[in-house]
Amino acid sequence: MYNKKALMNTYMQLPNVFTHGEDIYLFDEEGNKYLDFVAGIAVNGLGYSSNVLKDALKEQVDKLLHISNLYYTDTMLKAANKITKVTKMDKVFFCNSGSESIEAALKLARKYAKYKGYENRYEFITMKNSFHGRTMGAISLTGQTRYQKGLAPLLPSVKYAEFNNFESVKNLVNSNTCAVVVEVIQGEGGIILADKIFLEQVRALCDDKDICLVFDEVQTGAGRLGYPCGHMYFDVKPDIMTMAKGLGAGVPVGACLATEKIAKGFNPGDHASTFGGNPLVMAAVNIVVDEMLNDSMMEHVRSVGEYLHKQLTLLKSEFKCIKEVKGIGLMQGISLTYPPKELTSKAYENGLLLVGAGTDVVRFVPPLVVENKHIDMMIDILRKVL
Ligand SMILES: Cc1ncc(COP(=O)(O)O)c(C=O)c1O
Repeated sequence: MYNKKALMNTYMQLPNVFTHGEDIYLFDEEGNKYLDFVAGIAVNGLGYSSNVLKDALKEQVDKLLHISNLYYTDTMLKAANKITKVTKMDKVFFCNSGSESIEAALKLARKYAKYKGYENRYEFITMKNSFHGRTMGAISLTGQTRYQKGLAPLLPSVKYAEFNNFESVKNLVNSNTCAVVVEVIQGEGGIILADKIFLEQVRALCDDKDICLVFDEVQTGAGRLGYPCGHMYFDVKPDIMTMAKGLGAGVPVGACLATEKIAKGFNPGDHASTFGGNPLVMAAVNIVVDEMLNDSMMEHVRSVGEYLHKQLTLLKSEFKCIKEVKGIGLMQGISLTYPPKELTSKAYENGLLLVGAGTDVVRFVPPLVVENKHIDMMIDILRKVL
């Protein structure tokens, strides 16, 4: 038995203790088996049985775990070239989490402004109902006060616009604006898709004023929408993009990517991370790009995503408590007439792991290797529970 009180009181964990995973199932120490539609919250894209990933990590453990960013490593150079190619961005900075990738994006946007001689450009425009992480910069950017309680003063130079309302963004832009930050799908906010036209209008505005457009793709990136990055679905390109979650398939990693033009803002000494992009982590990223962000896997995600959408829509026609089916690819949700916790708790009691999003949404973010048969099993459990 473990003393669970040794952990700080920051999470509301389930009572059981998980020990291992297989395929897309998790097992606890009592041998209970759970169908996992959480995947470490949109992280474990390759599921729990990827021998390619495991072998690459084992091989790297024998070679080199960590050296400083004072030196190049073969694994990091490989990963940098692969990830910039597949995302069609020019440059990457590796860090360790989504929040850190946001911090890097904020710093790069300000540095780019200074580099261009815009001395007073320091303000960020972000969206209401957004989520960008838990560090002080990222939480300041997060447009939901419930995450900010007790933490004031936050970063003072953040303005909150209405998501999918171009006029609202435009009205906040002034000579101090340095970047506009958007999630192409608000994930933690409740699986809310950006309108393509909204993204296009913001893109045009940023181009017009030489303001950085930052897409936070921590959750939508790494193939979750059936494209290497989510903005490819909308066909609107950012200047800066953040990635994390699925990028390491379970190994902690974050990335801030940028175009050549914007990346000129950073010079040696401007930003750093001791562990960012270390050899072990980069070994995982190399596998993720090869095994996960390829055409056939992206086609698979789009296809199972459509199947999931169809099955959830069918369920909606059977149960009045489902208000809406939301999302695309393998980032979907159902909004409910009651708190999502009621459904996720019952699902858990029936061997299915699900997670909430926003105030009324239950989210489906399974491993990208999920198959229709797993979706059928998940729907059967949901039907019973509903
Ligand atoms: C869109 C988005 N940005 C940033 C983050 C923060 O990432 P991390 O928890 O790795 O710091 C999250 C986490 O859920 C996220 O969904």
